[in-house]
Amino acid sequence: MDIAYQNLRSSFPPYLPPPEFSPTSGFKLTKKLHFPIMISTNCRRNEFKSSSYRVRNSSLMLQYTAPENDGNGDENFKSFGHWVHVPLSLFPGVSSSWWNLTEDKQVLIGAAKPITVYLALRRMWKLVWDSNRWVLLVAFGALTMAAISEISMPNILAESIFSACRGKTVVFARKFQLLVILSMTSGICSFNRDEFTDFGLAVACRPLLLLIHNIRSTLLNNSSTSLQVKHLRKLLHSAILFQDISFFDKEMVGNLTSRLGADCQQLAHVIGNNINLITRNALQATGALAYLLTLSWPLAISTLVICSVLSAIFLLYSRYVMRTAKLTQEFTACAHEVARESLTLVKTIRIYGTERKEVGRYKQWLDRLAFISTRESAANGLWNMSFSTLYRSTQVFAVLLGGIAILNGQTSAEQLTKAFQNYPLRMSSCTLYMGSVWFIPHGVKLPELMGHIQFVNVSFHYHLRDMLLEHINITIRANEVVALVGPSGCGKSTLVNLLLRLYEPTNGQIFIDGIPLWELDIRWLREKIGYVGQEPNLFHMDIKSNIRYGCPMNTTQEDIELAAKQACAHEFISSFPNGYDTIVDDNLLSGGQKQRIAIARAILRNPAILILDEATSALDSESEHFVKDTIFELKDNRGGPKTIIVIAHRLSTIVAADKIFVMDRGQVIEIGNHEELLSKDGYYARLVKVHNNMFTSISSQHPD
Ligand SMILES: Nc1ncnc2c1ncn2[C@@H]1O[C@H](COP(=O)(O)OP(=O)(O)O)[C@@H](O)[C@H]1O
Ligand SMILES: [Mg+2]
Repeated sequence: MDIAYQNLRSSFPPYLPPPEFSPTSGFKLTKKLHFPIMISTNCRRNEFKSSSYRVRNSSLMLQYTAPENDGNGDENFKSFGHWVHVPLSLFPGVSSSWWNLTEDKQVLIGAAKPITVYLALRRMWKLVWDSNRWVLLVAFGALTMAAISEISMPNILAESIFSACRGKTVVFARKFQLLVILSMTSGICSFNRDEFTDFGLAVACRPLLLLIHNIRSTLLNNSSTSLQVKHLRKLLHSAILFQDISFFDKEMVGNLTSRLGADCQQLAHVIGNNINLITRNALQATGALAYLLTLSWPLAISTLVICSVLSAIFLLYSRYVMRTAKLTQEFTACAHEVARESLTLVKTIRIYGTERKEVGRYKQWLDRLAFISTRESAANGLWNMSFSTLYRSTQVFAVLLGGIAILNGQTSAEQLTKAFQNYPLRMSSCTLYMGSVWFIPHGVKLPELMGHIQFVNVSFHYHLRDMLLEHINITIRANEVVALVGPSGCGKSTLVNLLLRLYEPTNGQIFIDGIPLWELDIRWLREKIGYVGQEPNLFHMDIKSNIRYGCPMNTTQEDIELAAKQACAHEFISSFPNGYDTIVDDNLLSGGQKQRIAIARAILRNPAILILDEATSALDSESEHFVKDTIFELKDNRGGPKTIIVIAHRLSTIVAADKIFVMDRGQVIEIGNHEELLSKDGYYARLVKVHNNMFTSISSQHPD
């Protein structure tokens, strides 16, 4: 035992106190943790202040509770034990399992009582009901209508196709009319404006429908959110004022006012959207099940079973993810704290010669982060695998059961098509979506980003500044090139900052592909957005690495050169003696050259949404023209950017845009393409006239 103790002692850094030793039971090893060393909670940030810690590593346990006679047999035993232990530990539920994250109990000691889903729902319901019950009732009615329309549509779609096949013109016309009415109802009553266009509604109808939709969303969504914000702020303010005075000694005023400001706003959005999404999906899932039962009960039952299995797996997965997210946040904060401390106290560290100790301290938090992220990725992989298998198996079941029924003459092809029309998939996706609203702390990742952007009543001001953007309502459709035009300081870049979610809107919401921006996984979203600013900052590394920055690892030299050619940068890069390996220095590149490298970087990333914020302002007009053309060409390529937003001074770029938003003093004052805006003879037309006059006077001064 002494040897084992010595071994154990030597595996710890000398500055740690020795582990607890009990002569009767050996080391006190609890097997909750898999970290080599776990420090007790009260010293999370300053762990080495602690005078005691516990060793809770299951593999250590095997190692140190091994038979006391040292030697070869012992070694073999240890390695055998290790190899038996590893595969066993991969099964969830096994004590000391690889998946165990029980250390979060340690981390969370002292935290408030955990909020259960039931508790959260109850509180949320109370808040909404108390603040605006009439809005809630109207919204519930609208959502029910939307859900009923959406559920009935696939069925009527199948009926209209089959009636057309049979040549029944009257039935077909009637069904088609019904489809139009249902798509209008679902579009007006739900969040999604695009449903208006699903069945090719006449263009003339669309403005009217959009107007109705806007009135509905303004009345219901915005008024309900502002009422909730008001109610939340009132409650929180009175709760704060009634706290003990000691509470105010601990809390900073800035912290509390920010809770009253941004946090209330955010919470109101979450409440409004979650209730909407949960209600809508619950109604749709129930409707789909009821409908499926009337069409084919075996299919309904098998779908229900698959949904239940999926929900169970999802529940396990989401709880795991929630715990990993909490731990990641906690450990990242600790790692930053340790790094900050060691960098600010670097002189003290040098004087006392404790560099290694500090390196070890930081490494421990990094190890913990790696520990958590490995498990999170593994859980995510398993979840994706089970999800896609089970989700698709609903279709397989539909074909199998439907095929058997047709072969036995129990059902017709029309009946099978109706049952097959998305109902099983809709049921499972609704079930999971409801779950994800509650359980997944990460944002949503869409299978593909289409690039449809909507600003709905967005207002914004910077901290302690006056309102900058007011009631911005713009829609940028997928595959559009839009230009933002307006005088300097009117808020164009700020609008883009909101889209990149660098700031949160003070009011209103931004939707991307119909999903609120704050609900999307922001890292995923930013990966899909290419952004080039007016003053691109390049890194002090070679040009090749600067262009490749943020791109996948497998980018080839050819890809880099192609992007550089498209950005008009290849020529000047090749003129350097070291070409693409030239290190970027402060004075090496002009503003225009930096911009071209930044544009090449954006092109290479192949983003779904490309934002150019005065990105060509420092280019000469010839290069600007060339870059503009290549970017517009890229859009037409498959796989190129789908939506392009340009903030530009030069008229040539603006004229080529599909839509131009003219901004002034934080508001969008005109929308249309170049010709439409010229014919309006408003602000834009005046801008163009000023531009043309300037151009003529410059040309007359330089006739060449
Ligand atoms: N981070 C910031 N904090 C405070 N004010 C800002 C910040 N960024 C921009 N502003 C102010 O917001 C206004 C609009 O800026 P911006 O959106 O960059 O205008 P534009 O791009 O149209 O020239 C300006 O008055 C600017 O000073
Ligand atoms: Mg700007």
